[in-house]
Amino acid sequence: MSVPAVLIIGASRGLGLALVDVHLADGWKVHGTTRGSGVPRDHPNLVLHHLEVRDRSQLERMIQELDQPFDRMIHNAGIKSAPRGELIEVNAKAPIRVIERLIEVGRLKAGGTVAIMTSRLGARGGTSGSLGDYGDSKAALNDEFRLRTNRWGKAGALAVVIHPGWVRTEMGGPKADLSVEESVKGIKLVLDSLTPADHGKFLAWNGETHQW
Ligand SMILES: NC(=O)c1ccc[n+]([C@@H]2O[C@H](COP(=O)([O-])OP(=O)(O)OC[C@H]3O[C@@H](n4cnc5c(N)ncnc54)[C@H](OP(=O)(O)O)[C@@H]3O)[C@@H](O)[C@H]2O)c1
Repeated sequence: MSVPAVLIIGASRGLGLALVDVHLADGWKVHGTTRGSGVPRDHPNLVLHHLEVRDRSQLERMIQELDQPFDRMIHNAGIKSAPRGELIEVNAKAPIRVIERLIEVGRLKAGGTVAIMTSRLGARGGTSGSLGDYGDSKAALNDEFRLRTNRWGKAGALAVVIHPGWVRTEMGGPKADLSVEESVKGIKLVLDSLTPADHGKFLAWNGETHQW
């Protein structure tokens, strides 16, 4: 039986690095992207690529490097403290562009799963006011994701957006509810258990369906 393969966008630290660890521990082949000096891991099943998610030419270069279609793609890269325009570019526009392009060029296997990291702070919950710059960027991501659910489904993807919980990373801070390990253990279980009925959902790390 062939080894399953995952592509993790934004694998240098925090949740992305922990997602690398749980997939390697479970015997997956892992391709991870970073925009800096790499990943503090050395493993025969880990392949690294360089990707600043806003850079289209780097994306095309990475696509040429990818020598296999993936069973799973996780777009984890995101930022919290930046000017509004940058938040929209990195958190909303780039994830959609990157995933859409990877699907378009056939780097996702038919029936393969896609997860994009969103946040509960981007859930409008029926209100129409601003959610703050970060929340607005994740709400914009959710909107763009929902616009594409149909198209991505027809292309063979089983895609969700996922809230990782409030997690003790550099972004989440030391007072957050969850350890990185708790969050990614939950996220992996959720992704391992996805069925076609989950396509297009907003899920949380513990498997609960989140309100938009
Ligand atoms: N932690 C939480 O409580 C929490 C809650 C809800 C949602 N989230 C979401 O979960 C995801 C991961 O969060 P985290 O807590 O692990 O954050 P983190 O520790 O700050 O790590 C962010 C990751 O994104 C990468 N990244 C940021 N901007 C990028 C860009 N322009 N191009 C390529 N990579 C980029 C970073 O790479 P560098 O090392 O190169 O900077 C790093 O790998 C984010 O999408 C975040 O919004 C987190």
